[in-house]
Amino acid sequence: MVTIKSKKEIELMRESCKIVAMAQEAIKKAIRPGISTWELNKIAEDVIYAQGAIPSCKNYPSGIKGVPPFPAGVCISVNDEVIHGIPSKHVILREGDIVSTDLCAYKNGVHGDATRTHFIGGEKAVDPEIKRLVDVTTQSFYEGLKFAKPGNRIGDVSHAIGEYIESHGFYVVKEFQGHGIGHEMHEDPGIPNYGKPGKGIRLEPGMCLAIEPMVNLGTEEIEVLDDGWTIVTADGSPAAHYENTILITEKEPEILTIL
Ligand code: MF3
Ligand code: CO
Repeated sequence: MVTIKSKKEIELMRESCKIVAMAQEAIKKAIRPGISTWELNKIAEDVIYAQGAIPSCKNYPSGIKGVPPFPAGVCISVNDEVIHGIPSKHVILREGDIVSTDLCAYKNGVHGDATRTHFIGGEKAVDPEIKRLVDVTTQSFYEGLKFAKPGNRIGDVSHAIGEYIESHGFYVVKEFQGHGIGHEMHEDPGIPNYGKPGKGIRLEPGMCLAIEPMVNLGTEEIEVLDDGWTIVTADGSPAAHYENTILITEKEPEILTIL
């Protein structure tokens, strides 16, 4: 069921989303060659707790028998890791890496959710084709956002994202998608990053959506590592991810996870 948020709920969403944005800012400031993904996770978790929120991903159940809950507040995915990378003291970032940080914060009964992909050592340190992958991924979110208005359908958003990615020669990850968000981290509707215009539910003011393109450089195929969580590209090529929680309004959509 797709929920329409009340004025009060929207205010609460703003607060949780702002905390997500603050945690992402803290990561952006701290990220550099030599830092471990465990340290980055700690920095973000500290910001979230200091704001009286909880990192929603921490202890999130896998839903798979034998796979423990996600152990950290931030999913940190390096290079060929697409999503759900587990922070580790043994994963030390190096110049030229790309790293996505996906995190949620829960406060006053509602969640915010956003993802950024970072260039380690600055954008000039990253191979130009990989830089282009990250830029296209970010821009694909904004291409979808243009259609995130009342009267349009989810398929219009999905189509705009997918077309943009494929027209630039990259591959949409199809097994995972964006989602409604609010009292639950994952609510209806699902928001695929590809699709047909005119399909799916109609957008209405008061809907909160987490739109999150996941894009691979060399193939659309993915695999799951033995930890049961980490999703990697099947060919070992790099992947990028970008996400914001947005609010559908009568006019332009509002991005809630930016400061
Ligand atoms: N934040 C992710 C999303 O965008 C979910 C992460 S899965 C978790 O939907 F297990 F880590 F929570
Ligand atoms: Co999400």
